[in-house]
Amino acid sequence: MNDIRIIGPFAQMITMNGLPSKGPVSDDELEIIHRGGLAIKHDRVFKVGKFRDLRKEHASAPCIETEQDTVALPGFIDPHTHICYAGSRANDYAMRIAGKSYLEIAQDGGGIWQTVRQVRAARPKNLLEGILTRAESMLRNGVTTSEVKSGYGLTPESELKMLETVKLANKCSAVDLVPTCLAAHITPKDFDGDSGAYLEFMAQTLFTRLKAEKLSNRVDIFIEEGAFKAAEAISYLQRAKENGFELTVHGDQFTTSGSRVAIEVGAVSVDHLEASKPQEIEALARSRVTATVLPGASLGLGMQFAPARKLLDAGCALAIGSDWNPGSAPMGDLLVQASILGASEKLSNAETFAGITCRSAKALNLVDRGTLAENYLADLVGFPTNDYREILYHQGMLKPNLVLKKGNKVY
Ligand code: NIG
Ligand code: FE
Repeated sequence: MNDIRIIGPFAQMITMNGLPSKGPVSDDELEIIHRGGLAIKHDRVFKVGKFRDLRKEHASAPCIETEQDTVALPGFIDPHTHICYAGSRANDYAMRIAGKSYLEIAQDGGGIWQTVRQVRAARPKNLLEGILTRAESMLRNGVTTSEVKSGYGLTPESELKMLETVKLANKCSAVDLVPTCLAAHITPKDFDGDSGAYLEFMAQTLFTRLKAEKLSNRVDIFIEEGAFKAAEAISYLQRAKENGFELTVHGDQFTTSGSRVAIEVGAVSVDHLEASKPQEIEALARSRVTATVLPGASLGLGMQFAPARKLLDAGCALAIGSDWNPGSAPMGDLLVQASILGASEKLSNAETFAGITCRSAKALNLVDRGTLAENYLADLVGFPTNDYREILYHQGMLKPNLVLKKGNKVY
């Protein structure tokens, strides 16, 4: 028993335990342990309870005592990012403010294609530094797990370069980085063939290698005008599924059809959904696909938020991601974005927190985190307050005073 450590006391522990995996959640449903603590064994939660009781049960265990009132939550999980990139798209941002649309900029050879050229030219060392700097900033903001996509290489070699760098970054960073292959982001302008031929080529050259080299277990595609069409996406995703990949889709960002594809192929999540209408919302609610919304992209593009309230009321599982990328979502602060979405879409504290903890774990098919409960990873974020409602009220400006990753104090 002597490898147990205790941490606490926490003015409130918001465990996120026992919440429904789909649909609305009210704050009354939150399990709140007052003067709570954690007993940790190796990297996992051994027990959650009252700090005093845990101290008594494990009298000889080492103890980290919190020095001020702290509210604890499970470490945040960002289910959608593109933090492996080089360069800046401040030029895009300026053009958008001046009135050009995201799709117009892309059609003129800017947008994603600009970052592709910069990533192809970047040395792996520089890509690595960029990921680690962004992961460090996530950690300080309480994010202990983050998904990371490729998708700015768009040749087999440069997609592999991105995913190899993410794999290395995962070893160097305290944040768990979950890699996703987004070779199907757009058809690169220098590919000799149409979008169907490009997808065929990438599936053929990449899928087996990704599995063999354990570079990614997830495949994503951007279904949109100027990216990929629904029909070709279905064949590509079905092929990925046959090769053992979990699926996710960038869908319904400007036009609908992506969410329909996600449901048809049995994707784990469909992400964006700013353009989803009642028909798409109802279909998603009936499905097992997690609806991941990305308020950072709405803020970056100056467009409406995804209909988060309607998605929840219809019965969807709603996760919230930052979409951190150099183009549409350069801010990268999940808590700021989730708080603003919550205020605008009238989400309860419980719904917003679920979106960045237990429900974002579901969006990544991770069953060992997102909740403070026995046997889950001891990933925790603490805030200097005695009332959990202060956290979203301050819209991300109340910063964590404690971050634990796998039982270790990392911040
Ligand atoms: O999720 N929508 C497509 N892809 C990314 C943006 C990538 C970029 O603009 O560089 C997104 O918003
Ligand atoms: Fe994205």
